[in-house]
Amino acid sequence: MSVRLAEHRKDDRQERFAGIREALGPKSIVLIGLMGAGKTAVGRRLANKLELAFIDADTEIEVAAGQSITEIFAEHGEAYFRRGERKVIARLLDAGPQVLATGGGAYMNADTRESIKALGISVWLKADLRVLMKRVGRRDNRPLLAAGDPETVMKRLMAERYPIYAEADITVESRDVPHEVIVAAVTDALAAKLGCNAQQAKTGCCKKV
Ligand code: S3P
Repeated sequence: MSVRLAEHRKDDRQERFAGIREALGPKSIVLIGLMGAGKTAVGRRLANKLELAFIDADTEIEVAAGQSITEIFAEHGEAYFRRGERKVIARLLDAGPQVLATGGGAYMNADTRESIKALGISVWLKADLRVLMKRVGRRDNRPLLAAGDPETVMKRLMAERYPIYAEADITVESRDVPHEVIVAAVTDALAAKLGCNAQQAKTGCCKKV
């Protein structure tokens, strides 16, 4: 590819990202999906590309509680964690635009789902069992998986949660490929959903979500 063509494509991409930002207004891009789907890794890179802040809801919950998620589950139980999760995400959604990665159970709460629908555009990173197990196997910071055979727990969570995650505005398959590939798939899907190609971005006619 010639240098000029490469520069032209880069300009087009920048305009497209600007179009996505413009169409978002104050809304957040909210990543949902199971543990190991890549929400944090993809979210961080996506935010960087779109020049938006990246916020990880689990980290914010840990900061608010002054404890790690493992400690919160062990000392107070899951119901307490879920109450904190709902409050923290409601607060974070008021601070858009941003890329917000949520913990795997967050979207299962009906209030949180409503807030995300009102104040965000949701992106489900959908992964199959093999990809999820490969990724979660690298760390042992997930109390739900420590409560039984991790693969059995994951299968159960997939069965319970995938029909609800399917309500997301956008679904992107999170495959076993470099994160940048998934980020590109997410920006393509966002641009398609929001009507932001380079030309539309120039004329400022992207749909507001
Ligand atoms: C959970 C997922 C975790 C964390 C907590 C519960 C879940 O976040 O919120 O351990 O219910 O699926 P990640 O999805 O970021 O691992």
